[in-house]
Amino acid sequence: MKPNPIHHSRRDFVKLSTAAIAGLSPLAGGIPAPVFAAGNDRFRVGIIGCGNRGSGAAANVLEADPAVEIVAVADPLGDRIEAFKAKVETLCQKLPGSPFQRLKLTPDTTFVGFDAYKKLLAIDPLDLVVICSPVAFHSLHLEACVRAGKNAFMEKPAAVDPVGARRVIAAGELAKQKGLAVGTGTQRRHEAVYLQNYRAVADGAIGKIVSGRIWWCGGDPRKVLERVEGEDDAHLMVRNWYQYVEMCGDHIVEQHVHNIDVANWFIGRPPQLAMGFGARTRRKLGNRYDFFSVDFDYGDDLTVHSMSRQINGCYQRIGEHLVGTKGSVMPGGKITGTGIKSKPDKDAANPYVQEHVDLIHSIREGKPLNEARGIAEASLAAIMGRISAYTGQVIRWTDLTERTDSPWYSLALKPGPEDFEAGPISIPPTGVVPLPGAA
Ligand SMILES: NC(=O)c1ccc[n+]([C@@H]2O[C@H](COP(=O)([O-])OP(=O)(O)OC[C@H]3O[C@@H](n4cnc5c(N)ncnc54)[C@H](O)[C@@H]3O)[C@@H](O)[C@H]2O)c1
Repeated sequence: MKPNPIHHSRRDFVKLSTAAIAGLSPLAGGIPAPVFAAGNDRFRVGIIGCGNRGSGAAANVLEADPAVEIVAVADPLGDRIEAFKAKVETLCQKLPGSPFQRLKLTPDTTFVGFDAYKKLLAIDPLDLVVICSPVAFHSLHLEACVRAGKNAFMEKPAAVDPVGARRVIAAGELAKQKGLAVGTGTQRRHEAVYLQNYRAVADGAIGKIVSGRIWWCGGDPRKVLERVEGEDDAHLMVRNWYQYVEMCGDHIVEQHVHNIDVANWFIGRPPQLAMGFGARTRRKLGNRYDFFSVDFDYGDDLTVHSMSRQINGCYQRIGEHLVGTKGSVMPGGKITGTGIKSKPDKDAANPYVQEHVDLIHSIREGKPLNEARGIAEASLAAIMGRISAYTGQVIRWTDLTERTDSPWYSLALKPGPEDFEAGPISIPPTGVVPLPGAA
């Protein structure tokens, strides 16, 4: 796949503006003026969370628009910020136009600590904040960002629990009122082949969708990190965030949310209930399961089966397959049974860059993209599947969204995001996991 050429942002936006089908907020009358330093040839970006995706997203946003300057960073781990600079430099070496020169950090705009995000958000002007912290912090960071009047790009998923996901929906609604944009790291919604297939399916190419299968079956992507001398539980837990449901939501939420989001997008609604199972068999640290198998019932006789697994050495499959009354579609691949020719374009723009092209363009045009609800609903569906597997019960959508008397409605995992600022926190014990039938 070719990198997205810097000067093609507008053309690419027009070509791919069907991303708006699912994400753009309606342009009702009374929407406030665009929130960025208009007339200025600089587009100032701050990054919260300077790990792998933070550095990748930094290179992507620099590539997306030649006016972008990264002017501030925030992370509780100072060593991550040093590694971030080196990684962004390496990533930028492959790009035209020396984009690394537009990483313009100073000691005054480099913030370390669990409250570092607040200091970054106090910078003015700041045209966009890119949130790449661990999942548990997303709702806190997005809400703070919108309250501070900043456009946001928040990585997926929205949250680890229903309370956090509903907080993201509320932040998204507030963003609409304030004329702010929210992008959400759902790059498939900005990828040419997905958009082509979405359009064809929406136009009836495969008839009515009657069933589906979605997969994120891969290996275990993260190493367990040992405590460094003098390190407290809070810092060790965020370095190993991937191992704890309280931090990542388990892998059905953290990774598989992408495929659940595609199913929701193509079907046009979130599932009504989930029944699933899963287990932990061999993890060394933390409290996540190794695999999940969940039936998502979308109502109207439509069921999507979801499989997610993180075990090395097993068959790997990541993707989606939806079957309709007239044909079927792999949303990231081909449509079959209909005579329609649809296949991935190897020259298409890099979706990790395109999502920033689309977001920045929407901010400049005063038509702010708002993807908050979509990612919150995909995350809620994944959380619904996780709770079903953990408990062995059927979990309904309304348990997480409407029924305040449901035990799951007010589920807020602890430690929560604010607890890290208040400190101290204790790391949950390893291997203590919910037992279906007893949880
Ligand atoms: N869209 C995608 O395809 C994609 C791919 C990879 C990761 N992600 C998402 O990106 C996010 C980050 O993942 P990663 O792989 O970069 O993890 P990482 O561990 O490499 O980086 C996370 C960074 O956040 C920092 N951090 C921790 N707590 C913080 C806080 N309270 N405030 C600010 N920073 C904090 C950490 O110190 C670290 O530098 C996750 O939500 C993940 O799901 C998305």
